[in-house]
Amino acid sequence: MIEYKVTPDLDHDLAHELYVASTLGERRPIDDHERFATMLREADLIITAWDGDLLVGISRSVTDWVWYTYLSDLAVRVSHQKQGIGKELMRRTQAAAPQATVLLLAAPAAADYYGHVGFTQKTNAWALAPNERITE
Ligand SMILES: CC(C)(COP(=O)(O)OP(=O)(O)OC[C@H]1O[C@@H](n2cnc3c(N)ncnc32)[C@H](O)[C@@H]1OP(=O)(O)O)[C@@H](O)C(=O)NCCC(=O)NCCS
Repeated sequence: MIEYKVTPDLDHDLAHELYVASTLGERRPIDDHERFATMLREADLIITAWDGDLLVGISRSVTDWVWYTYLSDLAVRVSHQKQGIGKELMRRTQAAAPQATVLLLAAPAAADYYGHVGFTQKTNAWALAPNERITE
């Protein structure tokens, strides 16, 4: 049975191991210790899934609780994927701030996932990467 918890103080090394075991670590700066620690510390909402003592899933969000919840990371351990854990983590993320719209940027491998589980694709999303600047 999978247990879900709100874990604001998630252990850095456990999180690092999960990001590797889910493959999400390939697209996150997990080996920059301070940056990854900041991602964990400054998140507003971290919900984790546990199979006994084994951390098997995470939903990590930045939210104002009433308008938008940005789902920064969703990851499930490869050995535990396709068992509904990702969906349950997102259900609980939405339930934690029920007035807020949940937003995210899909990884290429998950491009079809979010539509499949109920999200609406938006064409009016815009991003400004750290190496991009507002024009003069
Ligand atoms: C994407 C991810 C979080 C999905 O988690 P999961 O627990 O395996 O997904 P669920 O079990 O909740 O899947 C729910 C449904 O989506 C389907 N699904 C799962 N992964 C999918 C994918 N990558 N593409 C399309 N559909 C997918 C499942 O088959 C299931 O379908 P069903 O309800 O018809 O049976 C997980 O595969 C993962 O961690 N991937 C690597 C990291 C990553 O890419 N994260 C997303 C960053 S944006």
